Order: sequence, then C-alpha cells, then structure tokens
Amino acid sequence: MTGQKIDGVLVANSVKDRTRAAVAELKKEGIEPCLATVLVGDDPASASYVSSKQRDCSEVGIATKDHRLPKDFSQKELEALIGLLNDDSSVHGILVQLPLPEQIDEFSTISKISPLKDVDGLTPYNMGLLASGRALLKPCTPSGIMELLDFYKIDVSGKHVVIINRSNLVGKPLYYLLLEKNATVTTCHSKTRDLGSFCRTADVVITAVGNRAKFTLSGDMIKEGAIVIDVGTSRLEGRLAGDADYEAIIKKASYATPVPGGVGPMTRAMLLKNTVTAASISKGIGKYS
Ligand code: GUN
Repeated sequence: MTGQKIDGVLVANSVKDRTRAAVAELKKEGIEPCLATVLVGDDPASASYVSSKQRDCSEVGIATKDHRLPKDFSQKELEALIGLLNDDSSVHGILVQLPLPEQIDEFSTISKISPLKDVDGLTPYNMGLLASGRALLKPCTPSGIMELLDFYKIDVSGKHVVIINRSNLVGKPLYYLLLEKNATVTTCHSKTRDLGSFCRTADVVITAVGNRAKFTLSGDMIKEGAIVIDVGTSRLEGRLAGDADYEAIIKKASYATPVPGGVGPMTRAMLLKNTVTAASISKGIGKYS
C-alpha cells in the first residue's frame, strides 16, 4: 500500500483564504484585527518564527505590533508589557513566543495574558475551557491537526490515537480535542516503556518529539494502513526533518504528513484564524463561553 500525502500547504491556504475574507468583513465594521508579538532574547530560530508570523498576518490583512526585548528583560517588565497590551483596545491578540529565557517563569507570564486575547490558547482559563470542550481560542498546532483530519475526512471516532508528546503546547490540548471527537487516546512520552508496542496498535500516530538524532518513527513501528501525523522538526544532515522516516512510513500508511509541508503551515494558519476570532470576541461578535 502507498498512502496519500496530507498536504498542509493546501489546507493552510484554504484556512488563510477564509481568514482573509473574515478580516475584510471585520474591516467593513471598522475593526482592524491586530496581533501583538512579544519576543524576549535573540534566539535565531524564535526570531525567525516571529518574523514568519508577522509576514503571514500581513498576507491576510492583519496588523501587527512587534515587541523585541533584550534577553535579560525581567519578569516584572514582561508582565507590565502584557498588562499594557491587555488594556490596549487596538490589540486583539497577544503572542508571547516560547521558550522564554530562564529568568522568566513561563506559566506565570502566560497566566497574565487576557484569555480574550490569548491567541495561543495557553492561559489556564482557556486550557480549562478546552478540557471542558468549550474553548474558542485553542492552541494552534493541535487545532491545525484537527483541521487537517477534517479536510481529509478522517473520522477518528472509535479509533485508537497514540500521541507521542505530553506538552501544554501539543500533547495535552490534542488529547482533549481528540477525545471530543470520540477517539480513544493514549499519551506516550519519554518515560513510556516499549513505545513501539503502543504505536503498532494505533490507528493514528501523532508524533511530536523533535529530536531526530534520538528518535525516529520507523516503518516497523506502525501498523498497515495507519495514519501518521508528524509534528516534530529537527535538523538531520543539514535538512529540516520530521520525527518520521517519511519514505518508509508512506509505503505502509494510508495517510501521512510530510515535513516540511505538513503540520507547520497549519500552526501558522491557525494563529491567523485565532487572531480573527479574538478580534470578533472583542467586539462582541463571537460568543465567548
Ligand atoms: N514556540 C513554539 N511553538 C509555539 C507556539 O505555538 N506558540 C508560542 N507562543 N511559542 C511557540
């Protein structure tokens, strides 16, 4: 069997088209959606991600405010900036790029973002809503994966989904989103014993390890006809690589995402969608439970 490639660029473009149309509608009502990005420090990868997010915003007509702060910026200063952005009615979404330098407490920082402007869906309030099946602003990578499954009409109801990741950004929110769709979900992580035995029973494997030197999802780790969603990104022999050995996986899977061109573009597109949702919420257009 040779599986079908899940084309993240194609699906991301359809999300972006819908977002562009929604931005145009909001502008007709006098609302100009605006995303504020906050980057602390000078990590080149993070700086490049933030620049890409800003470029994406301008492509669909979303305004941006760019805050680049020195790596020794204090917790107090960062929380003060977040307070100002929370109170700034021209800002609809706030994205604090992660990871943060070690002097900054990530949880405390994220907790200061207004849940109404939390376009990453990571505040405790929005995580609580997500666990209750009521969130409007959901973390971008997990909601992007759900959008991919939806686009390819992959119904996870009753299927066994194995997630290899337990982070707040990916594994935990995905667990709730998949449960909501009636999947049977198993969360695996670095301490899981005999990971292969879990993966081989899975109808869907979602892998987000991101360290190809230490972990590869190989063809012998999946069952025939499985669906593989690859969130991992790392450098392998100078090239961007996912967790999965895509060439081997696609020969056995029914569907698989490549890296690049799979989940990555979806994460970026869902941030745009969330910013429009936040702009709608701020004007009382969207319902906020
Ligand atoms: N760093 C890596 N992925 C993300 C993300 O989705 N949001 C934020 N804020 N930081 C990240």
